[in-house]
Amino acid sequence: MVERATGKKLYIETVGCQMNVLDSEFVAAALAERGYELTDDIRRADVILFNTCSVRQHAEDKIYSALGRLKHRKRRQPELIIGVMGCMAQKDQKLIFHRAPHVDLVAGPGQLHRVPELIEQVERERQRQMAVSLPRTAGARGKVAESFETFEEHDPDRLAKFRPARFQAYVRIMMGCDKFCTFCVVPSVRGPEQSRPPEAILAECKRLVDEGCVEITLLGQTVNSYCYRHGDGRVTRLPDLLAAVHELSGLRRLKFVTNYPRDMTDELLDAVRSLPKVSPYLHVPAQSGSNAVLKRMKRGYTVEEYREMVERVRERVPDAALASDFIVGFCGETEEDFEATCELVRWAQFKNCFIFKYSPRPGTKAVELYEDDVPEPVKRRRNNELLALQNAIGLANNQRFIGKTVEVLVEGPSPVARASDAQDVLQLAGRTHDDRIVVFDGNRRLIGEFVQVRVTAVTPTTLIGSIVTVEGKLPSLVQAGL
Ligand code: SAH
Ligand code: F3S
Repeated sequence: MVERATGKKLYIETVGCQMNVLDSEFVAAALAERGYELTDDIRRADVILFNTCSVRQHAEDKIYSALGRLKHRKRRQPELIIGVMGCMAQKDQKLIFHRAPHVDLVAGPGQLHRVPELIEQVERERQRQMAVSLPRTAGARGKVAESFETFEEHDPDRLAKFRPARFQAYVRIMMGCDKFCTFCVVPSVRGPEQSRPPEAILAECKRLVDEGCVEITLLGQTVNSYCYRHGDGRVTRLPDLLAAVHELSGLRRLKFVTNYPRDMTDELLDAVRSLPKVSPYLHVPAQSGSNAVLKRMKRGYTVEEYREMVERVRERVPDAALASDFIVGFCGETEEDFEATCELVRWAQFKNCFIFKYSPRPGTKAVELYEDDVPEPVKRRRNNELLALQNAIGLANNQRFIGKTVEVLVEGPSPVARASDAQDVLQLAGRTHDDRIVVFDGNRRLIGEFVQVRVTAVTPTTLIGSIVTVEGKLPSLVQAGL
């Protein structure tokens, strides 16, 4: 790839899930190919792009206020190009131009490969450009699915410098979602569920590993529903894909997120247990511990079935760390329903939980069918209570690690160190194979390496320790900071 220098600077702000982080990497690389240079200083940018999230109202509000702050700048600097991409672009479409008239470009998640061309069009014609996919109700499934294209179909470059870390990469294995949980906007903004061909996924993983990636995370909204039907009738599922990617020498860790409870098959669990590079980490959102709520959410399982799934995980992959998501204050959630969620959390002993207050999303079934009747202070209290419960569980579980040595892939400076990261020796953060966060002091040259850390203290979400050995180095050299 030849990067043409135009001297133009691109600023991208990414919010939301891993899918968005990956999409931003593709957009940044495609624009670099056209001569753009990435900047993290919004004031110096010639093009400002927001890669947005629509899962909760709060994520959208933040983007609209960031756009509001650019209004005067655009007046002073009319050649500045401001773009909104991702899920909010697909959801709000022209409304974005209405609410923020200084925006030049709107591109949904299924049209991001067109961003470079749309920017050129704005420059040439000085007119707003919009590229979005068809709504799910627009007609035949195939036609709608076709309107959600991904970058991967356009054979993009994967350039390490556009990733948060050169040695870790996301690889999309599916797009969209067909589960239609009643609270969730994802099926409408990311389109129909489509699995990518395994050959293309494998080739992408191979390229990444050849370029020095040691950790790959396979992405899908319901990643374990992955199912690719070949022309000759063969079917490839996630366990097959894991086994194939596992073969790549040089790869050290293979993860996959996020799982759908009903598709947690024995075959998948056996693959996790028998393939040593596959991280024993399973993120399987439960959303609620009450059957009445699960039914209104249209999650497709009962709490008994979820528990049975957890028991199978414990039996087949005994060392697996489980993680979950919960929504509190969903329509009609009573105190008893909430208590049932707490009970599930107490019983399941998750490594960590992401807890959200229900946020009604326009266009979803929940908004059509049910009233958002749990008052905000009640949502907040339940959120805090569940968080406190999970924190106590996390702390107790992490205490088992005190005195033990864990293998850590060093990811970068810890959040505390990031503020003053001038020195060579600083607080670093990394993760264990089962996705536990570990912080310790070390030389910044260790970023991207595997180190052994002895755990001396813990918090509900973090192990704290000190380096014992660095892979391939003698302990004496480690102590000397070499
Ligand atoms: N399968 C996807 C889900 C995307 S949304 C994935 O994890 O990649 C991520 C999480 O946000 C969901 O698991 C759910 O807990 C939460 N969420 C989704 N819609 C929500 C809403 N309307 N209000 C609050 N939380 C929501
Ligand atoms: Fe959303 Fe449910 Fe799919 S949470 S992403 S509709 S599995």
